[in-house]
Amino acid sequence: TSDIYEKVMDVARRRGFVWPSSEIYGSVAGFIDYGPLGAMLKRNIENLWRSFYVFQEGYYEIECPTIGTEAIFVASGHVKEFADKMVQCPHCGEYLRADHIAQEHGIENAGTLSAEALQAALRGLPCPSCNEVLGEAGIFAFNLMFQTTIGPGSQRKGYLRPETAQGMFTDFPRLLRFYRDKLPFGAVQIGKSYRNEISPRQGMIRMREFSQAEAEIFVHPDEKNHPSFSRYADYAVPLLTIAGQVENREPVRMTMHDAVNDGLIANEYVAYYIALTHQILTSIGIDPARLRFRQHLTEERAHYAADCWDAEVYSERFGWVEVVGIADRTDYDLRSHAEHSGTSMTIFVPYDEPRAVKKRRIMPDMGVIGPRFREKAKAIVEALASSEPGEDGARITIDGEEIFIPADLYQVREEVVEVRGEDVMPHVIEPSYGIDRMIYVALEHSYAEDEIDGEIRRVFRFPPAVAPIQVAVFPLMNRDGLDTIARRIAETLLQHRILAQYDDSGAIGRRYRRQDEVGTPFAVTVDHDTLEDNTVTIRDRDSTKQVRVPIERLPATLSGLIAG
Ligand code: GAP
Repeated sequence: TSDIYEKVMDVARRRGFVWPSSEIYGSVAGFIDYGPLGAMLKRNIENLWRSFYVFQEGYYEIECPTIGTEAIFVASGHVKEFADKMVQCPHCGEYLRADHIAQEHGIENAGTLSAEALQAALRGLPCPSCNEVLGEAGIFAFNLMFQTTIGPGSQRKGYLRPETAQGMFTDFPRLLRFYRDKLPFGAVQIGKSYRNEISPRQGMIRMREFSQAEAEIFVHPDEKNHPSFSRYADYAVPLLTIAGQVENREPVRMTMHDAVNDGLIANEYVAYYIALTHQILTSIGIDPARLRFRQHLTEERAHYAADCWDAEVYSERFGWVEVVGIADRTDYDLRSHAEHSGTSMTIFVPYDEPRAVKKRRIMPDMGVIGPRFREKAKAIVEALASSEPGEDGARITIDGEEIFIPADLYQVREEVVEVRGEDVMPHVIEPSYGIDRMIYVALEHSYAEDEIDGEIRRVFRFPPAVAPIQVAVFPLMNRDGLDTIARRIAETLLQHRILAQYDDSGAIGRRYRRQDEVGTPFAVTVDHDTLEDNTVTIRDRDSTKQVRVPIERLPATLSGLIAG
């Protein structure tokens, strides 16, 4: 076959990257297994992500349960809002995602259409499953969360989390203390998320169980400047802004400095993480010519977002795929969790200088109120202090009972008090990465076929930092002690935490091809010269050039090559 998707997935299945899950029982769409090389590739990509978010940015990682109680997802809005528009084919009974059918038939911005508009659009279209015309099939909302029950007796409803983000929000009061009550700070999480996708037919792109790597960065609502913005100010990225609206425009390459200055990106925080995301995606092997950042249309944004940019990667099979979403979630989540849980989600931010603020104080005349209301006097004084008195008196509520306190029972005084600061609810900037989508596009963009010695070779040109096997070690022949030396070299490299694989089966040319096919960037070969001078060859996967180095220098040389 000529479709690159088929070729990539063929190698991926055959060589142990990605397998259909629970194949022996018939696999279910939306679930995959990572085989030995896939799991290693995934771990390397996650670690590369950590090297940016944890080590460069200084945001610590937390780990929360993947099951959450109903209260969390009522507050987050997912119970009410996290639904896709679904249609059931009146002929074959298949459930289908309405906007995807419309989109496949060239209807622009299908994801932003109302149920009525979608129904009208679908009327004349064929069912992708049985090809009959959909006709009057009704559109309904299908909530994507998997529901479960917690404990026996089914009293407690729970949901599998549809994003890792909520754990960072519900932990906000503790994170605040951990970071010593100072903004900005961030927390990150890498883990599984679950969405009961309606008809996942896109392999690793749309899954029902998948991994996310998310950062939630809590910033002062008035803060537009990132403290390290200079790091990426001159970094240029292709941007597709909403200014021009329509599809298929050419993105504009702009520095982050210019994009913020021209008002195309709302603030330095969003711009900073756009550039950082560009750096991460190109470091895992995404072709920069097939990577762009697209701003969401207003009606396309999630229920919580004020601004959102997607990192989109071009796939030959799937077109432009959203791989990362960078959203300004404002204080939507913290405000909602504060309201639903009754817990304060604010931070006390001191002013540079204490400020003089006029305050109104209501002073009850205790000589009259005390004897008249006896045991309720204390409650009345407190309620009065926070009341809004009118001309002739104040209306307050005590134990659910409304009481009118005439104006002659208290005095209103204005006084100037010194205020040291204010309680602020932070805004949240959220870069959210889909790890499985990153892996798929990295596989697709790294895959190449070239000709070596008149033979077609298949190769994954993974950057050394993410390649599942970093070094192959071969004895040229399986005799004269060459194998013993090669085994010892492989062991030494493993002790230096370089993932080395020993292989002595088959002709040397075939062994090179096998390693090329799984993307191993370096191969060390022990030959007869080794017996003379203790040197070996290192072969570079991409150039196929070889250099000789002394055995004792191998760990340092290879570490340097892998680090880049
Ligand atoms: N917390 C924000 C959030 O979850 P999202 O755009 O719904 O935002 C973020 O998801 C990323 O997670 C997406 O850009 C995508 O890479 C990945 N993702 C979302 N749904 C997915 C699915 N069904 N299968 C695989 N990856 C998915």
